[in-house]
Amino acid sequence: MKLFPEKLPDEIREKLRDGEEVIALAELGKSPCETPGVLVLTNKRVMVRAKDGEEELALDSIKEAYLKTYLNVCVLAVRLDGSVKSLAVFSKSRFKAAEKLATLINNIVIGKVPYSILKKSIIAKRVPVRKRLFRELFARLKPAWPLIAVSLVFAVLLRILDLVPPYLMKILVDEVLVPKAHLEKLYFLLGMLLAIFSCQILLNVVKGYVNTKLNLKISRTIRYQLFHKLQRAGIIYHERFTSGGLYARIFDDVGRLQSLVSNTLERVVINASAIAFIGALLVTLSVKLTLIVLLPIPVTFLAAFIFSKFAPIYYYRQWRKWSNVLSAVSDSLAAILPLKVYRREREYEQRFLRNHREYEQSQISTYKLEQAFWPPVWLVFVASSLLVWLIGGLDVINGALSLGSLIAFATYMWEFYNPIFGLIQSFSELQRMKVSLERVFELLELEEEEGGSYSGKILGDIAYENVWFTYDGIHYALKGVTFKIKAGQCVGIVGPSGAGKTTMAKLLLRLYKPQFGIVKIDGVDLEDYDLEALRKQVAIVLQDTPLFNASVAENILVGKPEASPLEVMEATKLAAAHEFIMKLPEAYDTEVGEKGAKLSGGEKARIALAAALIRNPRILVLDEPTAMLDSLTEDRVMEALERATENRTTIIIAHRLSTLKFADKIVVMDGGKIVEQGSHKQLLERGGLYAKLWSSQLKALTRQEAIALDR
Ligand SMILES: Nc1ncnc2c1ncn2[C@@H]1O[C@H](COP(=O)(O)OP(=O)(O)OP(=O)(O)O)[C@@H](O)[C@H]1O
Ligand SMILES: [Mg+2]
Repeated sequence: MKLFPEKLPDEIREKLRDGEEVIALAELGKSPCETPGVLVLTNKRVMVRAKDGEEELALDSIKEAYLKTYLNVCVLAVRLDGSVKSLAVFSKSRFKAAEKLATLINNIVIGKVPYSILKKSIIAKRVPVRKRLFRELFARLKPAWPLIAVSLVFAVLLRILDLVPPYLMKILVDEVLVPKAHLEKLYFLLGMLLAIFSCQILLNVVKGYVNTKLNLKISRTIRYQLFHKLQRAGIIYHERFTSGGLYARIFDDVGRLQSLVSNTLERVVINASAIAFIGALLVTLSVKLTLIVLLPIPVTFLAAFIFSKFAPIYYYRQWRKWSNVLSAVSDSLAAILPLKVYRREREYEQRFLRNHREYEQSQISTYKLEQAFWPPVWLVFVASSLLVWLIGGLDVINGALSLGSLIAFATYMWEFYNPIFGLIQSFSELQRMKVSLERVFELLELEEEEGGSYSGKILGDIAYENVWFTYDGIHYALKGVTFKIKAGQCVGIVGPSGAGKTTMAKLLLRLYKPQFGIVKIDGVDLEDYDLEALRKQVAIVLQDTPLFNASVAENILVGKPEASPLEVMEATKLAAAHEFIMKLPEAYDTEVGEKGAKLSGGEKARIALAAALIRNPRILVLDEPTAMLDSLTEDRVMEALERATENRTTIIIAHRLSTLKFADKIVVMDGGKIVEQGSHKQLLERGGLYAKLWSSQLKALTRQEAIALDR
């Protein structure tokens, strides 16, 4: 399925009316269970063109789109006013595409997502096609240019030195050994040979050193650029990549780039100069035979052209399979606990083996592709070399060419062909490296988080103005959220799971940018804030903030590195964390383990809270601050928080509504929208979602009491 396709089939383009744009185009019939045809979703209608006819539905007439799933297929259907209609059958393998289509339609007809927002969020997801990869790579390697140049000079020098000993040997044989005279020349020539061989050894050592330095410099330069980018890129980009894929890029791909610059480049330069040099020599020997020697060149170009069309597909597949292998390892290690709990080790081992086998297969099929191309090309070279012998031989018989010239020509011919084979091999390597380069550039070109310049002191007025936000460009987590908080207020946000509460909090820290609408603090658009100033004054404790693999104290000091021990203690006391920290084996110096694995959930939550409080932020957002705590500790933390909310704007997201007893206002969210707001009392009187949530929590308590009394 293509979203906002650039090229449209003529018969579809003709059908479009004024102002109508194609959002999605899905070709049907790729598998036998689909009816051939095409499904087009525009901003006005859905059209289905199949062999046996055409159908179209105005989006206005659709109430909802949904999928009916069967054993092998799923059917995209829509509910109209009082009836239902099946639009198209998709094979199970295209379930994701069908689901995307249904969601897109629902975004428009149910979510009422304005078309401009929908388009913007889909197009923003596109990855641009990159060109001139190699040129860009060299531009980025500027710090390594001197080393590259030195390494190339050494390579050429060594290649030239290689040519000298055979020439000296020839003089030795012709002028000393055969005439059995000029003994002094023997010493001189042997001395020369010794000098040249020593020179070669020395140059090789120096070149090896230069190349090692070069390799290290390239991998450091590019790996650092990648790491820097990953640190600076917005969270939204991090969610696009698997950790296996990222490792493959940072380590394997950069390794390949390094070999591109230090080996392939050198070979290309040497081979190309050898071809030019020996080609010139061939022409001086015989123009006619040189033309025959050149016969395979157009064939090679053609093969290379066709190869470059196919090869990236194969190399890309191989790359993906390899990153799947890495993912199999990193996924299982990241989830080792549930994996053990559910005894899924075997399954993950199988997955690893399966992925590895697929990788092997992709490598074999790449090998087959290469072998389907180049051996036939070599055969053409062999044929034309035999042709040289045939035509040259006839010329020798006719007396048009001397035997010596033919033999010299035939010898040089292979000296000419060998570097061509070398270039062909380099060409194959370059195709493979292109895939690595693309993967690396995809990361290098990620947009960095960029702030504005405003860095004033925050008072704490917050305003969300018609904010629309989607993580994936398809599902909307926030749909036109509008609300205001006055400086110093404490506001509670409640609502069912998945309502968009955490998402709203994340937008306040500019971790994500809304696709539409504005979030303001003190009347200033968040876009205009300097990120550092913003994040210093706004603190968020997320539901599951992982801690750093460091000591307790260091984890609290991330909030404010320059804080004194006294401040740390004040913050931990406020977060009701001081007591349990003092009971840890090394108190504040206890290491918390990876992601804080050595602490309990409630302990982690309180350390994260202390890290937020120590900054004394103007705006404090707490996402389920007490979800992990027992009711006694919860009471203590809430009491402390009540004090902490004085003089600052506080947003508390909570499921346990009793946590919000001191909130000035409560905002109720559902399905990405704000459905109610007001005080606890007002909301109860309203009898809406809040009242329902409240009564169900109350019911749970009374039921518990009733059961307890019964016993
Ligand atoms: N990183 C993400 N990538 C894609 N979708 C996401 C991401 N985070 C959340 N979502 C989706 O966005 C929607 C809102 O999620 P959010 O975390 O804001 O809900 P919530 O109200 O905080 O729920 P809970 O009470 O369970 O914490 C959900 O449908 C969720 O699946
Ligand atoms: Mg949440």
